[in-house]
Formats: sequence, C-alpha cells, structure tokens
Amino acid sequence: MVKKPKLAVFASGTGSNLAALLKAAQADTLGGDIVRVVIDRKSAGAIAIAEAANIPVLQIRYPAFETREAAEQEIVKTLVADGVTGILLAGYMRILTPYIVQAFEQRILNIHPALLPSFPGNNAIEDAWNAGVKVTGVTIHYVDTGVDSGQIIAQTPVLISEDETIDELTERIHDAEHHLYPETVAKLIKEGVFQA
Ligand code: GRF
Repeated sequence: MVKKPKLAVFASGTGSNLAALLKAAQADTLGGDIVRVVIDRKSAGAIAIAEAANIPVLQIRYPAFETREAAEQEIVKTLVADGVTGILLAGYMRILTPYIVQAFEQRILNIHPALLPSFPGNNAIEDAWNAGVKVTGVTIHYVDTGVDSGQIIAQTPVLISEDETIDELTERIHDAEHHLYPETVAKLIKEGVFQA
C-alpha cells in the first residue's frame, strides 16, 4: 500500500481545477492529501476555495523578491516544512525556474487546455478555435523550465462541433479538465510517483 503523499496546488486564477482536486482528495479518490495552496495574486478566486476547504494558503508576492528564484526559495522552504512531495500547477501563470524544477524533479505536473504540443501558451483554447481545428482537448504534463513543453502524461480529446460557440467549447474543455486532472494524479500516486 502506497503511503498518501502530501501535495501542493499552485493557482493564479478562478481555481476550478483546485476545486476538482480538493473534491477528489476529500472523497479519498485522489490517494493523496492537498496540504498547501500557493497563490501569486491577491485577487485569485482560488484563495476563497482553499480557505473554504481549510487548506493553508501561501500568498507569494513575486515583486517583493529580487528574482523569481528567490521567490521560489521561499515557496520551497514552506513546502519542505509541510512535507510536500508533489506540486500540481492549476492555472499558475508563471514559468518556473530550474531551482524549483530540480528541487521537485519529475514531481511537478501542469494542466493545459489543448492537445500539446499544439497550442502552448496562455490562449490555448482561443488559438485552437481560431486555427479551425476539429479536435482539441486537455493535456497533463510534467513541468520543465519551458512553456508547456514537459513530457506529456495524459490527454483527453474534445471534439469541436460545428454549431457551438467558443464559450460552450471552453466550458466543455474545463469539464474535461476537472475529470482528467484528479484521475491522472490518482494514477500517478498509485504508481508511486510522489513518494519521498
Ligand atoms: C485551466 O484551463 C488550465 O488548463 C489552465 O488555466 C486554467 C485554470 O483554470 N492552465 P482554473 O483557475 O483552474 O479554473
């Protein structure tokens, strides 16, 4: 039986993926505990979601640090004290430096709303829509120091129908995310990926 790993979720935005991961952790289908949420923006909706679930939040103000690495040192200090062995990026709008990527090598995941390597970057759903592709989707990948460039772990396709709007597509992609992320994390935990 694999010991339950302690995980941190990093978010900058609405927090719907954080909510999906917390739901799975609370239902005990994730196989791990989310013990810390790291947020880099004051206004992020994810703060309220974490607080409602009684998960401690580390709010990190990058401008207060001289370098991104210095901000990450502060984050890593907290995560190590928490006993965290895996990081789940969920709408975290920052590129990580080699410092944290090496500290948590092959233990940092990201979710991206397109079928990588197509449409990396911040406007993936819109970029896929504008390109006129008929299939897009969701990707979970390991994080390296590039933009959405790490090794792909899992993908779900989402077919774009002729008569839908981009808002409807966006909603369906988010629905797919909320299934794929907890399922993938649960599978990796079973495989022992986040063991200390
Ligand atoms: C998601 O679409 C995720 O794929 C992307 O950022 C968005 C975050 O949404 N990386 P939310 O904050 O989890 O609602």
